[in-house]
Amino acid sequence: MSTVRVLAVSAALLVTSPFLTAQSPRPEGSQAPSASSQVAGIAGNVERGRYLVEHVAMCNECHSTRDASGEIIPGREYMGGNIPFTPPWPNDWAAVAPRNAGLPGYSDAAAMRLLTEGAIGRLGTRLRAPMPRFRMSQQDAADVIAFLRSR
Ligand code: HEC
Repeated sequence: MSTVRVLAVSAALLVTSPFLTAQSPRPEGSQAPSASSQVAGIAGNVERGRYLVEHVAMCNECHSTRDASGEIIPGREYMGGNIPFTPPWPNDWAAVAPRNAGLPGYSDAAAMRLLTEGAIGRLGTRLRAPMPRFRMSQQDAADVIAFLRSR
């Protein structure tokens, strides 16, 4: 490759790389290798799991304990919370989103099924709304599980 061509390619990379960075699914500041753990044979990335849980799936919004003014109590994230509303149509909504820190009662296989097959709970039946019917990829689920196990 000629020097001119190498320079041209390098310049093109310099120009486009900010856009590549902007579209990266990784959260800011997670460039360094982060903790991972095996989840049902897949390496789950704790930091990517945090990003999915806190910024995409929003598990913390329902599964955290809130004070009387509706603010999540620091240190009570993922420790369970009330669902203070139901829709106006006939429904079977759950009143409580139980603790999911550590995913108690869920083997890795059961947690994987929960997140990839539309909210099948540990007893093998579908959980009630408003628990979302997640159909995550196995990798996303492994990352989410790794993060919640670390809580
Ligand atoms: C919109 C609110 C909401 C969101 C968002 C939500 N959940 Fe839930 N979740 C619930 C509710 C409500 C239940 C209880 C369902 C029931 O009792 O049938 C539940 C149940 C669960 C259970 C079952 C606990 C048990 O005792 O069997 C787990 C595990 C769980 N959620 C994990 C998650 C994870 C992981 C996420 C994010 C990836 C998430 N949830 C996001 C509302 C939510």
